[in-house]
Amino acid sequence: MNSYSLQGQIALVTGADSGIGKGVAMVLAQAGAKVIINHVDAHEVAEQTVDEIKAAGGDAYAIHADVSNEDEVKAMYAEMFQQYGTIDILVNNAGLQRDSKFVDMTLEQWNTVIGINLTGQFLCAREAAKEFIRRGVVAGVSRAAGKIICMSSVHEVIPWGGHVNYATSKGGVMMMMKSMAQELAPHKIRVVSIGPGAIQTPINHGAWATPDALNKLLTLIPYNRIGEPEDIGKLAAWLASDEADYITGTTIFMDGGMTLYPGFADNG
Ligand code: BGC
Repeated sequence: MNSYSLQGQIALVTGADSGIGKGVAMVLAQAGAKVIINHVDAHEVAEQTVDEIKAAGGDAYAIHADVSNEDEVKAMYAEMFQQYGTIDILVNNAGLQRDSKFVDMTLEQWNTVIGINLTGQFLCAREAAKEFIRRGVVAGVSRAAGKIICMSSVHEVIPWGGHVNYATSKGGVMMMMKSMAQELAPHKIRVVSIGPGAIQTPINHGAWATPDALNKLLTLIPYNRIGEPEDIGKLAAWLASDEADYITGTTIFMDGGMTLYPGFADNG
C-alpha cells in the first residue's frame, strides 16, 4: 500500500500499454488516480492494461494517439476532458529507440526518435499546462495546479554511441523540462523528470534476454540488478503526490548507480 494518495486525480500516461508506462499506470491507479492509458499500437493491448487496473480495483480508460501528431494529441485531450473533465497529472512517457551507427543513421531514424521522444513530450505538456492554468489549484485535490513528469533517461547525461538520436532526444527533454519548470512554477505547476537506467522492458530486450547480455549489462550497474517498471511507477506516484510538492525542475535518476561512472570503481 502507498503512504500517499492520488485519490480524485486524473492522470494521463503516454505509451502506457507496455514497459515503464504500463508500470507507472498500474501504480498511479493503486494510489487512487483515474488513469488514461495512451497507446499508439494495438487497442487490445491497451484494453488489457485497462482490465488489469480495473481488476485491481482501479479506474482506467484507453485512448489512441500518436504523440508526435498535433491533431491526434489535441483529439486525445478533447476525449479525456469529455470523459473525466480535466487532468491533474501528465506522465510524458511515450518513447522509442531507432538505433544505428552515426554515419549510417537515416533522417527517418533521427526524425522518428526526436518526433516521439521530444516533440511528443512538448505537445502533450503544452496541452496539459493550458488546462492546469485554466483550472488552477483545486483545494482538497492537490497543492499544485498540475504535475508534469517527463520520462527521461540516464542518457540525458551519459553519452551513448550508436544511439545519438536517442541520447539527443533525452538531453533535449532535460532542458525542456527545466525551462518549462521555470516558466510554469508561478502557476503552481510542477515539472520534473525521471531518469531511468536499465529497466527490464521490451525497449532493451537484447540487453537482458540472455545470461551473457545480462552479465555485461550488470557491469554498468553498481547495485547489480536490472530495474523493474514498478520501481519507476512508485517514484512517479510519489513525485505526483503532495509529498513531493516542493520538487520542481530537476531529474531524479533511478538507475542502480549507472550514473556513478562504474568504470572508475577500480580504475583511473
Ligand atoms: C534505454 C535502454 C537502456 C538504458 C540504460 C534507457 O534509456 O532506453 O535501452 O538499457 O537507458 O542504458
